Amino acid sequence: MRNKTFYIVGNWKSNKTVSEASDWLKEFASLWQQKPLEVEKLEIILCPAFIHLTTLTELIIQFQLPLKLGVQTISSFDSGAYTGEVSAVMVADLVRYAIIGHSERRKHFRELEPYFSEKIKYLNQVGIKTIYCAQDETMQIPPGAELVGYEPVWAIGTGKAETPENADQVAAAIKQKTRVQVIYGGSVNAENVAGYVAAPNIDGVLPGGSSLKAQTFYDLIAKASQT
Ligand code: PGA
Repeated sequence: MRNKTFYIVGNWKSNKTVSEASDWLKEFASLWQQKPLEVEKLEIILCPAFIHLTTLTELIIQFQLPLKLGVQTISSFDSGAYTGEVSAVMVADLVRYAIIGHSERRKHFRELEPYFSEKIKYLNQVGIKTIYCAQDETMQIPPGAELVGYEPVWAIGTGKAETPENADQVAAAIKQKTRVQVIYGGSVNAENVAGYVAAPNIDGVLPGGSSLKAQTFYDLIAKASQT
């Protein structure tokens, strides 16, 4: 394993009922208890829907798992009269990270600037770190984002991952413009994660589909920890 921290950010997207989420966590805990992994150099983050945050927090404490929680989006407003929104303050006790600007938010919910910068401002106020998704190296990274998730749209959910070499070049280009850490997202799984761990400019991965089953997420972490 390399010297610096490698991030593994599981994004459940809009999946799982409350009982499915707790079953996932219990299965993951049982895999972990059978065979704990070497995770000193890993930061493992799970980003479920808001409705799962309290249940998962309790179970993570109960089973003493090395998992942190994140959210997949956040309100671009502070707390107040904004029906349906979840503000950064509301989740500040539960999560350390927030994914902002995912291509699915841009495509299906027409999210764009200046809302991303507003979201990042409120996240920073409560100490939640932003993982800002960029679909290519030309995109502007708003100030205040700590991590950038490079996620080429054609690689998301398609089983066709960007090669570690290409992803590494894009990560290097992003780092030249902005001083951030860069993680890669798009069809990452236990079979291909080693290539990203080995790439010098890539600081982590953002698996969607591979995080949905406890076993596949555990296998991916196992592979990363052995690389
Ligand atoms: P995927 O999703 O792993 O299912 O391709 C990745 C992403 O949304 O960044």
